Amino acid sequence: MTSVTRVYRFSASHRLHSAQLSDSENAEIFGKCNNPYGHGHDYVLSVTVSGKINNRTGVLVPLALLDQLVDQHVLGLFAHKNVNVDVPQFADVIPTTENIVLVIAGLMEEHWAAYFDRGGPRLHRVHVQETDRNGFEVLLPLAYPAKRLTDSEGSLVHA
Ligand code: NI
Repeated sequence: MTSVTRVYRFSASHRLHSAQLSDSENAEIFGKCNNPYGHGHDYVLSVTVSGKINNRTGVLVPLALLDQLVDQHVLGLFAHKNVNVDVPQFADVIPTTENIVLVIAGLMEEHWAAYFDRGGPRLHRVHVQETDRNGFEVLLPLAYPAKRLTDSEGSLVHA
């Protein structure tokens, strides 16, 4: 099995704050990401696809197709947005990068079949680097439905 990893970049802003925590708890857990007026990150999204190399083309996944999927269903949603306000999936979910990578993986999995044949390339891993020191990943396939990935307090958790 071979895999291909393609890297994308997007900038977005967020604020990490839980109404279920006190102000001091929010400050302690989220640090600078609890800044009242939000702040931006230059996120690096890595998408790993695995599968067989196509005999006719010599490639595992047509990158232009992968780019279309990511542009349409991920970057269009997140790039240059305020994640708390502009991305509907975060209306009630704290936009930690744990949750962002999980939402991105779910969106890509949901739309995968519209771009790639069954038995063709498979979505294997989605990784989001938030800062030099913090990276977050989801391995596919996710358990479905994605709503079940929330814990009892309504935060998304990893599959
Ligand atoms: Ni932050």
